Amino acid sequence: MDLSVNIAGLKLKNPIIAASGTFGFGREFSEYFDLNLLGGISVKGLTLKPRKGNEPPRIAETPAGILNSVGLQNPGVYSFIKDEIPFLRRFDTAIIANIAGNTVDDYCRIAEILSDTDIDAIELNVSCPNVKEGCLMFGSTAEGISKVTSAVRKVCKKPLIVKLSPNVTDITEMAKAAEDSGADSVSLINTLLGMAIDIKSRKPILGNIMGGLSGPAVKPVAVRMVYQVSKAVKIPVIGMGGISDADDAIEFILAGASAVMIGTAGFVNPYVWVETLDGIKQYMEQHGFKKISELTGALLD
Ligand SMILES: Cc1cc2nc3c(=O)[nH]c(=O)nc-3n(C[C@H](O)[C@H](O)[C@H](O)COP(=O)(O)O)c2cc1C
Repeated sequence: MDLSVNIAGLKLKNPIIAASGTFGFGREFSEYFDLNLLGGISVKGLTLKPRKGNEPPRIAETPAGILNSVGLQNPGVYSFIKDEIPFLRRFDTAIIANIAGNTVDDYCRIAEILSDTDIDAIELNVSCPNVKEGCLMFGSTAEGISKVTSAVRKVCKKPLIVKLSPNVTDITEMAKAAEDSGADSVSLINTLLGMAIDIKSRKPILGNIMGGLSGPAVKPVAVRMVYQVSKAVKIPVIGMGGISDADDAIEFILAGASAVMIGTAGFVNPYVWVETLDGIKQYMEQHGFKKISELTGALLD
């Protein structure tokens, strides 16, 4: 059975990737399972300088997911290079550096710095709803996406994935803008902008007032967007949003995803990535698929 995926030069031994911001730099989860089993790890969003993130509370539980307003807390790109790449390189899994910035120059600088390191791909986060400047500001219009993607493309020597926000009117326009500006792949969805209120105190639950919704609640929206985007662009699509098991992952793959990322479900079940991979293998065996690529977009619509 061939589970390997090639996303414009980014070689994954299987289609299961840990989603950015939910897996740190892999250290904690390496105590639960062998990270060699993963196709790849998208690390916590990196900025040029370290960031403390937003005021607490930064997580609010919702009936079928969570709202987070972490606000890109991270040690900065230089600390990642010095301390985290050597740790991650001990495992045979692709390292995807998720990056964010306040300005186009920030994105270019980080991409330039990371291009000379031993990572496998760069994922451009233009879709974080939890920071005041930049990020989602770029990702919420086709012009913004074109501007940042084409600038980064010029300096980025690694496969370039653009991560799309669902907080837009037409997701296909955003995906096409990324493709036309030189992206090798698009990943989607980032979190859906949301809010929760404590009616006793009459205050917002999150310190940042609003946050991003993830987990099972967003899955149907994410599957729909992956379906639409994979019909609209020729570049490979990486799907995510609420995947909790193999059946969920297979939905995304049938809808057109070449690979999937899993995030929030790992907070409930730290083995979700491995179990999902096993379930995909079983499904392929039962349904006579020899290659995972045969499953991508195999929806009978
Ligand atoms: C606590 C938390 C932190 C996140 N941080 C990032 C981040 O730094 N960069 C990014 O691109 N996405 C970030 N995300 C979004 C996830 O990577 C993913 O797109 C989203 O959660 C949907 O997938 P899921 O439902 O499997 O979690 C974060 C999500 C959560 C829950």
